[in-house]
Amino acid sequence: MENKIENRIEELLNKMTLDEKIGQLHQSGVSIVGAFEVSFEELINMLTDGRITPKEFEEYMNNAEEDFHEDDIRAGHISSFNGVHGAEKVNRLQKIAVEESRLGIPLLIGADIIHGCKTTFPIPLAESCCFDEKLWEKTAEISAEEASSLGIAWTFAPMIDVARDPRWGRISEGAGEDPYLVSKFAVAKVKGFQGEDLSKPNKILACAKHFVAYGACEGGRDYNTTDMSKQKLHEVYLPPFKAAVKAGCQTIMPAFNDLNGVPCSMSKYLLKDVLRNEYKFDGMLISDANAIQECVIHGAVENRKEAALSCLSAGLDMDMGSNCYGEHTKELIESGDLSIDELNTAVRNVLRVKFRKGLFDNPYFTNSKREKETISNVKFRSLAKESALNSIVLLKNDGILPLKKEMKIGVVGNLAIDKWETIGAWAIMADGDNCISVVEGIKNSKNDVLYEKCIEDGKLIEDQIDKVCSSSDVIIAVVGESRDMSGEASSRGDISLPEIQQALLKNIVKRGKKVVVVLMNGRPLALSWEDKNVNAIVEAWHLGTEMGNAVSDVLFGDFNPCGKLTATFPYNVGQCPIYYNHPSTGRPAGKSKFTSKYLDMPIKPLYPFGYGLSYTTFQYSDLRADFNNQNLEVSVKVKNTGDIDGSEVTQIYVQDVVASRVRPVKELKAYEKVLIKSGEEKELHFVISCDDLGYYNEEMKYVIEKGLYRVFAGGSSEELLQVEVEL
Ligand code: GLC
Repeated sequence: MENKIENRIEELLNKMTLDEKIGQLHQSGVSIVGAFEVSFEELINMLTDGRITPKEFEEYMNNAEEDFHEDDIRAGHISSFNGVHGAEKVNRLQKIAVEESRLGIPLLIGADIIHGCKTTFPIPLAESCCFDEKLWEKTAEISAEEASSLGIAWTFAPMIDVARDPRWGRISEGAGEDPYLVSKFAVAKVKGFQGEDLSKPNKILACAKHFVAYGACEGGRDYNTTDMSKQKLHEVYLPPFKAAVKAGCQTIMPAFNDLNGVPCSMSKYLLKDVLRNEYKFDGMLISDANAIQECVIHGAVENRKEAALSCLSAGLDMDMGSNCYGEHTKELIESGDLSIDELNTAVRNVLRVKFRKGLFDNPYFTNSKREKETISNVKFRSLAKESALNSIVLLKNDGILPLKKEMKIGVVGNLAIDKWETIGAWAIMADGDNCISVVEGIKNSKNDVLYEKCIEDGKLIEDQIDKVCSSSDVIIAVVGESRDMSGEASSRGDISLPEIQQALLKNIVKRGKKVVVVLMNGRPLALSWEDKNVNAIVEAWHLGTEMGNAVSDVLFGDFNPCGKLTATFPYNVGQCPIYYNHPSTGRPAGKSKFTSKYLDMPIKPLYPFGYGLSYTTFQYSDLRADFNNQNLEVSVKVKNTGDIDGSEVTQIYVQDVVASRVRPVKELKAYEKVLIKSGEEKELHFVISCDDLGYYNEEMKYVIEKGLYRVFAGGSSEELLQVEVEL
């Protein structure tokens, strides 16, 4: 099959003109045109900085039209679109490309299908707390089912940036701080989107992003510079991409940031040495939006022409939106600055993924009938609920949960009523009206619940607080972040609850009411006051379509929460970046003043990686570990010591105690989620390849050293049994 595709690529390439080759490197968007003399982008800028009012903007938009650049498609100058969807619309454009252009090369339609399409699943940071590859794969599969019915053949997902700083808003889009877990998440998502046979109409190309170390942006400030040793790069930030490539991921998106002074979009080291030569990646690279042009702003090149040259010769195949390639590649070839071989390589990579996707043989892979049947398919809601339930993390419970149905319950907080707030960041295709708000979900379980917003225009509404507190035994306070407070360009310097929400909580607690906090947020938050002063804290993130029903089932005990954190929650933002797999230092925090700690806050996090409570309790015993041949074999017993059944994520961590470069005090190397009935005990077995215990030495050689290893087992990165074993 592969040879056949390669032959078809060569055959086509030999027929292509220079313009047609350059056209294959250009991804376009839909332009909004109409009775306004400026570009749509400028119109947005005018709205943003107040030069036009929202009303004026709306009037402009009422007279606007979509320009799909049909003539450019017909001329073979457009290879792909970002942001077009709908079977009819896509097929109309595809027909121009396939039946009216000279060579009939089909368009590749891409979109950000990050955590669901019309059915919205939990944001990735939430879903990662399920610790369940099968579930992660299933939600990706359904996302592909829905997206492909709309004519989308490519998603710019999974986002697999390891993130150790919750100030960074895009921590919400990934799977947290641990390279091992993020790698598992990456593989599951690639498999879910692409399936076994990528050419099937209901499968879509995956795109591992953002390559690489975007999550290490200094200060947690989006787009900021990143700088680290090659060892850290290969031990922490690259593993998920290596795993994604090994799983067959067909496209990769370089990140906006510079890494050690070189913008990722033009880094030969990253795009050629690592991706192509070391990982043997043979798919296609797509720039991030406008990122090629931004190499000029980085100060890495003089102008757009140099940006085109630097990125293309570094191996960045397709240009998303900057049109640097469209404008300058021809002159670069004619001047000899860029060789025709370099251009042909990029064109081959683009054609290869189009052939593999089956677009040449089946360009019209959807239609209105399939779209209608798929998008309205209610059976996807049950999966949305299953993933929402398993993403919820119980952070605190003094026994008040689960709530009893006979209790008089009040619900407060403006996030609780808003269906659209359930979808979180990067849910561009979501149907918010079809989502269940938290209040709605609670009322589905107990319809006599009293709800009051209690916050209006940034102020507390005392009489609403009076009303809800005077008639309730328990207050459920739904607080956290609106969905535009996380995701891209949403870094926060202060990650505590918004002040007015803190004021609401303090007001209610002061009245002596019992309070259950339900968090809707896209990042770890600093909750030290809340942890001390409220009765329970349920981390509910932004869970999507079935959010309200899932939260309600957990609150009333119809589902026993089992989520485990994949990103550390600090006491205070001053502790950031903060993560569990850190080196010991020569003076680990201790009683002595002269140890690594703060004068004014604890060194430990509020809630650590891997942490999450249940309505039952689990006890670990009998941890054993031995090296056999090339494996570390671990077994441990887990008993459900409570009176209700529950699922537990048993985590296995390993420490290389002495090494030529200091190693983390522990690293997650295996986990298993098991349902254990009340009173039941299970013995779990894990086999960890010694190949996974290595690290990069001073000479950047991957080594697995003999010596002492510590093995840990437990239900959180902090409550662990441990044994020592010699390799
Ligand atoms: C954005 C994001 C990227 C997304 C792309 C296309 O700027 O960085 O994750 O896929 O544009 O929408």
